[in-house]
Amino acid sequence: MGKRGKKHREPQGRRGGDASDDDDILPSSAYDVPPPTNDREHQESESGEEQEEGNDDGGRAWAAAAPSKFHLYQLSVQSPKGDISYMQKFFLMYVGGRFPLHLQEDFCGTALLSCEWLCSDPRRTAIGVDLDLEALNWCLENNLNKVGGDGCSRISLLHGNVLRPQEACVVKHQVEDLVKDLALCDKNGASEAVTTNERDDSEVQGCFTNASMKIDALPNRDIVCAFNYSCCCLQKRKDLVLYFKHAFNALSKKGGIFVMDLYGGASSECKLRLRRRFSNFTYVWEQAEFDIINRRTKISLHFHLGKQRIIRHAFSYDWRLWSLPEIKDCLEEAGFQSIHVWIRKMPDTTDIQNSGEFTVGRDVKYEKVASFQQQDAWNAYIVGVANV
Ligand SMILES: C[S@@+](CC[C@H](N)C(=O)[O-])C[C@H]1O[C@@H](n2cnc3c(N)ncnc32)[C@H](O)[C@@H]1O
Repeated sequence: MGKRGKKHREPQGRRGGDASDDDDILPSSAYDVPPPTNDREHQESESGEEQEEGNDDGGRAWAAAAPSKFHLYQLSVQSPKGDISYMQKFFLMYVGGRFPLHLQEDFCGTALLSCEWLCSDPRRTAIGVDLDLEALNWCLENNLNKVGGDGCSRISLLHGNVLRPQEACVVKHQVEDLVKDLALCDKNGASEAVTTNERDDSEVQGCFTNASMKIDALPNRDIVCAFNYSCCCLQKRKDLVLYFKHAFNALSKKGGIFVMDLYGGASSECKLRLRRRFSNFTYVWEQAEFDIINRRTKISLHFHLGKQRIIRHAFSYDWRLWSLPEIKDCLEEAGFQSIHVWIRKMPDTTDIQNSGEFTVGRDVKYEKVASFQQQDAWNAYIVGVANV
């Protein structure tokens, strides 16, 4: 899980009509900076503890309620409506001829995007793939249950490695009731009823090894996506190409697109700390020194809920920060016929006054570019097109 500061903004004056009109639902990104405060460059105390963020009494009560790190992450970082809006636009632009219905969200974490996809059209289906069983289970209990209707019959959550999708196991498929007993196979092939709360991860993992539904059996996808810089989790070029090949092969033979995001700019290659205040908590993106030999960066996400609770290192990543040309080359090698980069300059991370992102940034959109001069910070969508 993780992103340097992606925040969902609801559309204002959203135009109806076709999907391409929806791109005024602007997804924000890693480089959003918080509104100006005097202590944005937050310091740690000598004890190593983070200082209190000054949340009010409401924040204390909220902290005492112990919100999950996944919940905090989704509030701080994700903007699924914006991502869906852009994916639809890209699909209609580069493939066209039909409305995209089938999505695969790789590195899905809590699969918030997949759940939003299901809500956006009753014909839509989604597949989510992630290594983190805790995140997938959290999705079942906290996101998927909000989709309603036949939502759970339209999603397949797969626990596994995107590099070996054939081995991924369905966490839950076409289940009628998310909280009732779940029939799982025991080692002898017999069925036993186990409630969600009674299971621990090892039990679940073991039992689901026998799950018969595999990714190859699912319908081909119109769109495969990997957001919040997830491709940076793959550190070797051969793994990146292998992953892109799997994404390519998952796409419909009628044509489809792969969409991923990436951040960059001068500020991405140095030590940095960014904070964003929310009404009840503060989100902190911490970036360690940048290793230019291996292009490796270590990222930690912290959540401050006042003195009562600080969740340090709620999420930590060891990423290889790929460059745009590297990604482009690997996508071509994997078989994609054309690759398109859509980019937006982000507010300078060094400019403490630059908080316009939250007030006037709505009309700053991603633009298709063939070249782009380096900035302090930028965010990009990369679209690989698999034609008919
Ligand atoms: C940066 S988070 C992104 C989560 C989500 N896509 C989002 O938009 O917030 C990266 C996710 O990738 C998962 N992950 C990392 N390596 C993976 C792999 N090889 N296969 C599947 N999932 C992986 C992690 O468990 C984590 O949930």
